[in-house]
Amino acid sequence: MDKSIDSIYQEALDELDGVSAPEALEAVQVRYLGRKGRLTAFLRNIASLPPEQRADTGKKANIAKKKLEEAIRQCGESLKSGKGNAGEQLDISLPGRPATPGSLHPITRITREICDIFARMGFSIAEGPEVELDYYNFEALNVPKYHPARDMQDTFYLSDNIVLRTQTSPMQIRVMEKQAPPVAVIAPGKVYRCDSDLTHTPMFHQVEGLMVDGDVSFADLKGILTTFIHAMFDAQTSLRFRPSFFPFTEPSAEVDILCVMCRGKGCRVCSHSGWLEILGSGMVHPNVFKSVGYDTTKYSGFAFGMGVERIAMLKYGIDDIRKFFNNDLRFLRQF
Ligand code: DAH
Repeated sequence: MDKSIDSIYQEALDELDGVSAPEALEAVQVRYLGRKGRLTAFLRNIASLPPEQRADTGKKANIAKKKLEEAIRQCGESLKSGKGNAGEQLDISLPGRPATPGSLHPITRITREICDIFARMGFSIAEGPEVELDYYNFEALNVPKYHPARDMQDTFYLSDNIVLRTQTSPMQIRVMEKQAPPVAVIAPGKVYRCDSDLTHTPMFHQVEGLMVDGDVSFADLKGILTTFIHAMFDAQTSLRFRPSFFPFTEPSAEVDILCVMCRGKGCRVCSHSGWLEILGSGMVHPNVFKSVGYDTTKYSGFAFGMGVERIAMLKYGIDDIRKFFNNDLRFLRQF
């Protein structure tokens, strides 16, 4: 008899464990404590036991009844608070959470686009160190110590002769030191300058280009860069080559495209000039060839360098360069 009250009580608890809805809870309550419930029937039956068993069995049965009532009450509470009896409730009707795949950073996208265009024209791709010797960043590029051109680039010096590269141009030297002409190479990568405002960040990206061979002329420079710009923007984009100065090229030219915002009418973006500067270029200076041991009577070449952020800003119509590096997902997800 005692065993039987224990097993009724235990079975009731097992059933409570599986309860996850108020209806199921009520069914358990009716099944055990209702008018025809198993525990109720057990209690009623005590009167027919031999007198010496009644007190003991009755006491145990009443304790079991109290405990079961309490367990049912608690189960009801946790259903109300949104939890199943056995912890978190599982709603299998909820739609699944969609996976949010990452996407390429706009700067990575544009860098790859630039590299692809030059790769199609036969250029190979080279990469080099961001922590660079002064020699490669300046000296071998015809910018000796104390040359005024160093002031144009706000250099981070790590020591007397080690810098964070201020440009990707040192890759020209590194490539030519290792390779004899013909050379057709581009070098994408990070560069650093101590400068920060709407259009400058202390770290940004450049793509350098270099072509050297027996008879490379300024016409080749114009042809390659025109083809590039037409592929990068659109085939109708007007451009102009404007005389300029860089220590490592002679003659030098900057390339402007017709302002993508106002189409040449003049606006804030192009400082009312109608033109936007997008890269620097020129014929490789003989002193640069000398520093890598190329024969200046046999070879000629051109070089160019462009800022990736600037091209991305023009292509996507972005007005603040810092947006690229704030890592605001609302911005980054647009690309
Ligand atoms: N290195 C230059 C800069 O950061 C850009 C540049 C201009 C690169 C002319 C070149 C070049 O290769 O020929 O401003």
